[in-house]
Amino acid sequence: MAESGKRSIRVLLNGVERDITPPSADTTLLQWLRQDQRLTGSKEGCAEGDCGACTVVIGKKNSDGRISHAAANACILLLPMIDGLSVTTVEHIAGPNGELHPVQDAMVQHHGSQCGFCTPGFVASLFAGWRSGCAWTRPEIENLLAGNLCRCTGYGPIVAAAMSLADAKPPQWDQDRKTAEESWLKAHDITSLNLSSAEAFLAPTTIDALSDAIADQPQAQIIAGATDIGLWITKQFRKIPAFISVMRVPELSVITETDDTFIIPAGVNHAEAKEHLAEAYPQLDELWRRFASAQVRSTGTVCGNIANGSPIGDLAPAFLALGATLVLQHRHDQRHLPIEDFFLDYQKQDRGEGEWLREIHLPKLKTGAHFSAIKISRRFDQDISTVMGGFWFALDAGVITAARLGYGGMAAIPKRATKTEEALIGHRAADPLPQDVMDALASDFSPIDDMRASQDYRQEMAKNLLLKALDAAAHGKTHADRLAGLSPLLDAHQGAAE
Ligand SMILES: Cc1cc2nc3c(=O)[nH]c(=O)nc-3n(C[C@H](O)[C@H](O)[C@H](O)COP(=O)(O)OP(=O)(O)OC[C@H]3O[C@@H](n4cnc5c(N)ncnc54)[C@H](O)[C@@H]3O)c2cc1C
Ligand code: FES
Ligand code: FES
Repeated sequence: MAESGKRSIRVLLNGVERDITPPSADTTLLQWLRQDQRLTGSKEGCAEGDCGACTVVIGKKNSDGRISHAAANACILLLPMIDGLSVTTVEHIAGPNGELHPVQDAMVQHHGSQCGFCTPGFVASLFAGWRSGCAWTRPEIENLLAGNLCRCTGYGPIVAAAMSLADAKPPQWDQDRKTAEESWLKAHDITSLNLSSAEAFLAPTTIDALSDAIADQPQAQIIAGATDIGLWITKQFRKIPAFISVMRVPELSVITETDDTFIIPAGVNHAEAKEHLAEAYPQLDELWRRFASAQVRSTGTVCGNIANGSPIGDLAPAFLALGATLVLQHRHDQRHLPIEDFFLDYQKQDRGEGEWLREIHLPKLKTGAHFSAIKISRRFDQDISTVMGGFWFALDAGVITAARLGYGGMAAIPKRATKTEEALIGHRAADPLPQDVMDALASDFSPIDDMRASQDYRQEMAKNLLLKALDAAAHGKTHADRLAGLSPLLDAHQGAAE
């Protein structure tokens, strides 16, 4: 049975503990901050997680007891999701007597603001970097600010402001606030949440209670980071009568490993997975760098990215190539499903009533195996893929002995190119692509024309990504290595653009 015990939400808002009874479970944090609390510094630009004008800083205690801080988009966070966390808005960044915080002072000194609409979001993102120990190098700053859009200032002065923070000293009041916030977070253990307002929001803290709740209420919407669901509410105005959150079970927020597998459970977000898996899969690290923004990566989950069945999600093609297995659970029963069998048709996945995605098993790369993950999108940062390819090859003396190719953006579901995989066996990775492989690739997919790209473009991209991946396998270089090789050119280009 599900855990019981109704209570309100407890949060540390700008250093003050608050007990909140949300007007409805689908109230967003931004709506509550602006309309209820009259904290109007955080702005609503897009209401879909894209522009960063609503950025706030969320502090939480992780299951290992560590306190972490990250920027998040208040416009797509639902109020019940912040239970037990700390929230800092732009109103609480300056000092107690109105002294500017170093991140604000840097923006002033470097003329980082014009109309000012985006400025609270930039300041909040910089403050998230400040709290989480950013070293203020250019790549770190670009990652930190990729989810904040500015229409007027231009990014040069904002980046210069951020770079100047490397030498900034923390004021005493900032240190004191940090200490007080950390003590509050440490003193508050995560407890289950059961809200029943116009809509219900249930957040159990044990796997059994979660699994039972989902089986008992199969019509309730399973919710994780809400980086998809938030948009259903703010953009499609969908009314969802009941939510069950997978995010409060401590065991579900930790990646574990066996000799040959990484296990990624339902509560792990993209930022955590990026950090944990970067060494084992540098190719995924590079992909995650370009996945959405710091704000979305700190909330959206890896399992949510697979469970949503999106044909243009970034991780599914990579996980198809790596040969991932999904573990689906109904009450106590588990079944293991190869990831390719999960995607049945457009927006249709092999998930039974009352079943949920408990974890993803990702095989470790063995010697002789080569893996690439390459994303093509119109913008480098913060953009959905046009075509996404994941490629895994086993080579023996340069000859392909096994291959798995996963593509996104080429069909109604993320899909393996099985005919191409077969045609590649026996081919030397370093040799030009033979006609039979190209024919196989053309027959594996018939992609659509849409606003992102034409059918011909997608087909051409699928081929070019395969060529790139084969080249990387033949020469032992990852796509990230190649980008690193290009970085002096990119830096020169960026310098010229400023
Ligand atoms: C601004 C922005 C940029 C984005 N950029 C990218 C991008 O670059 N690449 C990309 O691939 N995606 C991108 N996304 C999409 C989204 O962030 C990801 O798909 C994310 O991983 C979804 O996870 P979530 O935890 O937020 O899911 P939620 O929104 O909570 O849920 C999404 C769906 O998955 C289901 N679900 C979640 N967890 C489970 C579970 N454990 N078991 C069963 N069902 C479950 C939910 O019921 C729902 O149907 C972007 C989104 C935004 C808002
Ligand atoms: S309002 Fe644009 S990201 Fe929230
Ligand atoms: S200063 Fe106007 S949008 Fe950034």
